[in-house]
Amino acid sequence: MKGAGTGADGKTAPSAGGTYCGPMTDGSAERLSGGNMGDVYRVGDAVRRPAGAWTPAVHRLLREVNRAGVAGVPMPLGQVEDGRELVSFIDGCVPAYPMPAWAWAETVLLSAARLLRRIHDATAGLDRAGPWRSPARQPAEVICHNDFATYNLVFQNGEVVGVIDWDFASPGPRMWDLAYLAYRIVPISEHDRSDTFTPDERRRRLTLLCAAYGTAIEPGELLPVLRERLVDLAEFSDRMAQELNKPELHQHAELYRSDAARLPTNWQADLAEEGPRGEGQDGAV
Ligand SMILES: Nc1ncnc2c1ncn2[C@@H]1O[C@H](COP(=O)(O)OP(=O)(O)O)[C@@H](O)[C@H]1O
Ligand SMILES: [Mg+2]
Repeated sequence: MKGAGTGADGKTAPSAGGTYCGPMTDGSAERLSGGNMGDVYRVGDAVRRPAGAWTPAVHRLLREVNRAGVAGVPMPLGQVEDGRELVSFIDGCVPAYPMPAWAWAETVLLSAARLLRRIHDATAGLDRAGPWRSPARQPAEVICHNDFATYNLVFQNGEVVGVIDWDFASPGPRMWDLAYLAYRIVPISEHDRSDTFTPDERRRRLTLLCAAYGTAIEPGELLPVLRERLVDLAEFSDRMAQELNKPELHQHAELYRSDAARLPTNWQADLAEEGPRGEGQDGAV
């Protein structure tokens, strides 16, 4: 559902286009929008999504993370049927671009980093066997979500309480996820400035994000990883533009490349100088 209302509480739907807040349902299938990748339907307390060769490994991961007691992660419901998976619906709001103002609150930054840390810690000792949709990366410290960004986070009462859209998970370094989260949630992207943060505020938010994640990872270490991540994402977006026959994804690739090229080598000197303002992308590709 999209439409009227203002809250991030899961009871009302904010007015920002595409932002989804799950109201009570009557159990009939309702198409969910917000992503780029395919047909997603809500059916009561479940979500039906396209599945693939990676789904068995992802379901094993989701079960393990749930078993470890991490709240806010969908639970697989049954087997893949007709190329579709069924996972549990996570109650709350999932924002979409252009991001609503509540997505930039400091509590959001902190709760997102803490959830990512809990998930990473829960995956550190898990089976790494695929097949995964994304390639594994070294050092494979944890199993990365690989699309841990505002548009895949579930919000309740102004905090991040869950994360959906696990298709691209694969073994990788903690920083691979943290760098991309920083890109989307600080944000570091030049192309979504609906937040209106100054360069100083952006530097502060990046420091806070790293501190809330809570390992020794420092902002200065994160930016070279982010550069690599964005170049990789640009290549992926170009591939997806071909495969899904969505030429607009080439434009996303260009945005990633220009963001990668503009990343500072000295983050304290010139992180996020004011750049052009525009609409952000709808999802990872
Ligand atoms: N398990 C879930 N719980 C709550 N909402 C979900 C869930 N899965 C998907 N959604 C909703 O459906 C939208 C698209 O689903 P998503 O899995 O992100 O697909 P895509 O791959 O297209 O990005 C999301 O933006 C969100 O609003
Ligand atoms: Mg998504």
